[in-house]
Amino acid sequence: MSFLKNLNWRFATKAFNPKKKVSNEDLNKILESIHMSPSSFGLQAFHVHVITNQELLDQLKEHSWNQSQTSDCSHYLVFSARTDITSRIDQLIELASNSDPEKKEQLSQYEGMMRGFIEGKSEEWIQNWAAKQVYIALGFAMAACAELQIDSCPMEGITPDEYDRLLENPKHLKTTVTLAIGYREEEPAYPKRRFSDKDLFTTVE
Ligand SMILES: Cc1cc2nc3c(=O)[nH]c(=O)nc-3n(C[C@H](O)[C@H](O)[C@H](O)COP(=O)(O)O)c2cc1C
Repeated sequence: MSFLKNLNWRFATKAFNPKKKVSNEDLNKILESIHMSPSSFGLQAFHVHVITNQELLDQLKEHSWNQSQTSDCSHYLVFSARTDITSRIDQLIELASNSDPEKKEQLSQYEGMMRGFIEGKSEEWIQNWAAKQVYIALGFAMAACAELQIDSCPMEGITPDEYDRLLENPKHLKTTVTLAIGYREEEPAYPKRRFSDKDLFTTVE
């Protein structure tokens, strides 16, 4: 299975070759994997900045524990969780009904279920819930990179508030995690380190 082979090939790349760039064609495939990620209710409660502006990347690096991946990668993807779920529900209903009033009516039960789900939830709860969708999309993007033999490094070692400031995020977008993509400068420093199957899995028959 080439997928598993590629998962063994990939590693959280620390040193990128700053001169080697991901082609637009491959970038679009990676973005499409994010686009196609499943999400709770299909709300896709996230947004992704795809950054190549070197000045901005250098600034972001200062708020990323100075990790060189930020500024040496080919493209830097910053995943933000959306907290404007009420209007996101409106948007999803418009999308799913194609703005047809009759179809909208047919979707009213689904709409009610979504509204009921978020009713009374705090901003913090919604942000955490949206962040879960972000991580699914992040996983899909990393898997797509591996399939394309493009290197990547997921990064939580960042200061989200500073990212929000530098990206001029509106209030409803909260930086959550990033993904540096590009091509490795060096091979991994150590072999894959994973706990045993016994540690991770329990079979219940
Ligand atoms: C959510 C998340 C955040 C991470 N943050 C960082 C980070 O800030 N910097 C870094 O070098 N690696 C980061 N990593 C990479 C992990 O350390 C790495 O995936 C783990 O050690 C397993 O190694 P492998 O991915 O090379 O197989 C992160 C991984 C994940 C999934």
